Amino acid sequence: MSKPKLVVLSGAGISAESGIATFRDSDGLWENHKVEDVASPEGWKKNPELVQNFYNQRRKRALEVVPNPAHHIIKELEDKFEVLIITQNVDNLHERAGSSNVMHLHGELFLVRSEKYPELIYPISKINSNGWELKMGDLCEKGFQLRPHIVWFGEEVPMIKKASQEVLMADVLVVVGTSLQVYPAAGLIGYTDRNCKKFIVDPKIPNFSEKNWIKIEEKASTGMKKVQEQL
Ligand code: APR
Repeated sequence: MSKPKLVVLSGAGISAESGIATFRDSDGLWENHKVEDVASPEGWKKNPELVQNFYNQRRKRALEVVPNPAHHIIKELEDKFEVLIITQNVDNLHERAGSSNVMHLHGELFLVRSEKYPELIYPISKINSNGWELKMGDLCEKGFQLRPHIVWFGEEVPMIKKASQEVLMADVLVVVGTSLQVYPAAGLIGYTDRNCKKFIVDPKIPNFSEKNWIKIEEKASTGMKKVQEQL
């Protein structure tokens, strides 16, 4: 018999205990920058060096941290469930905890792509052996500038349709560490089937109108332990 399907929708809060800052816990600034300066096509056009440097620092930081118990518990849930993680995070902590099925809605920190040909995508380690630094002048095989492989504000989220189909098929949905303020990702919670068992884990549970959720008002590590115990 096949295992029941568990979908995790994770956000910045799941990586907080690993030491990666969330977006909205710091007065609308992200590591001292306005989000639109470093995470929008307009910001990139205005000052690409600033954007490159910003993501270089994010990659460098991500290499210094390790997965925390919440990431590990999600990996452990694979024993009982067919687990799919739909993450808004661009770090690779789910993968480093061993999770085998991760969909990155908003892109991936350790991939870079051609500004002109978005299908030309490379691991950063192929571009720079230090594994974190992308510079202006680093080019794709067709000679165009490389940029972070990140979905910026105002850009399409290519995987959103597939993600909503997956949520619809979930027997269990676990939402963890997201403020549910950014669409279309936040809208995914509305796609569940009537019989789906739904958990939300967050030290500050966001307001939303859908009913029948099990709310665990705790940080990800202890909250995910409780989810695991209830499944
Ligand atoms: N454990 C669990 N949740 C936590 C923890 C923790 N230790 N610490 C903070 N949180 C919660 C906060 O209470 C908040 O609800 O994590 C959430 C973080 O919310 P945001 O900073 O808005 O992050 P997220 O929802 O992932 O943002 C979505 O916005 O900037 C864009 O593209 C970016 O993917 C990102 C998207």
